[in-house]
Amino acid sequence: AQYVVRPVSREYKFVTERAIPRLGLLLVGLAGNNGTTVVGSVLANKHNVTWRTKNGVQKPNYYGSLTQASTCHVGRMDGEEVYCPFRSLLPMVNPNDLEISGWDISDANMADAMERARVLDYDLQRQLRPMLENITAMPGIYNPDFIAANQEERANHVIQGTKKQQVEKIREDIRNFKQSRNLDKVIVLWTANTERFSEVSDELHGTKEALLASIERDEAEIAPSTLYAVASILEDTPYINGSPQNTFVPGLIDLAVSRSV
Ligand SMILES: NC(=O)c1ccc[n+]([C@@H]2O[C@H](COP(=O)([O-])OP(=O)(O)OC[C@H]3O[C@@H](n4cnc5c(N)ncnc54)[C@H](O)[C@@H]3O)[C@@H](O)[C@H]2O)c1
Repeated sequence: AQYVVRPVSREYKFVTERAIPRLGLLLVGLAGNNGTTVVGSVLANKHNVTWRTKNGVQKPNYYGSLTQASTCHVGRMDGEEVYCPFRSLLPMVNPNDLEISGWDISDANMADAMERARVLDYDLQRQLRPMLENITAMPGIYNPDFIAANQEERANHVIQGTKKQQVEKIREDIRNFKQSRNLDKVIVLWTANTERFSEVSDELHGTKEALLASIERDEAEIAPSTLYAVASILEDTPYINGSPQNTFVPGLIDLAVSRSV
């Protein structure tokens, strides 16, 4: 076979909101390595907490963040390349203004969880402890069939009940968070342990009707991550998947598209 490649040009139109919302972030797996590091790092930046390392005094920054630390080429002026900070291209939320909370199947307070994670330097942990020790994640949806067996001993903070009741509880948590923190918008992000793949079938996961009916029947093959995602979509809240699992079964995509989430 012979292939011919022809260049085409196409115009895209991106539409974005210009008012910066009061934004909330709900992490699934708040008390893990990622969760405690994100929360601790945002607090360090927000309160300008400096800490000592063997190399001297360290200041907080957002190096490593694409939006906060990188620049974009915007053109040439007087023969010189011009770049501007990525974050100034469009109205964007400053990460220091994020309201963060979330769920975890472990009831460790965020200070103990940060220590358990062993990511941040000791002198930074020491100063963040008072800001974190009164924060505990909301109980999470735990299903031992979907994550590694070594998680069992930390699963002491779980939502009881049927899958339908678990979805209702997550929906309520999203609504309460939005209301109590006076937020315009909430985003849910999965950063809990990677689950096993669920065995996808048309009957259980094929369409939004099939998926909602399987939750109603408390079917075994519906993963916790899919339950969090269903709850988010039903609250018109975007859900981002941070782990390589098949949360987004066809019925879930169908539900999201039907609600334009
Ligand atoms: N996308 C990426 O770039 C990227 C980068 C790093 C890690 N990851 C993924 O992020 C995940 C977390 O990594 P980590 O190092 O923070 O792990 P971790 O084990 O330290 O944290 C995971 C947390 O999730 C909690 N948890 C487990 N199941 C839960 C559930 N159903 N509901 C609520 N909480 C639950 C655990 O108690 C734990 O506190 C992993 O799956 C990893 O693959 C993704």
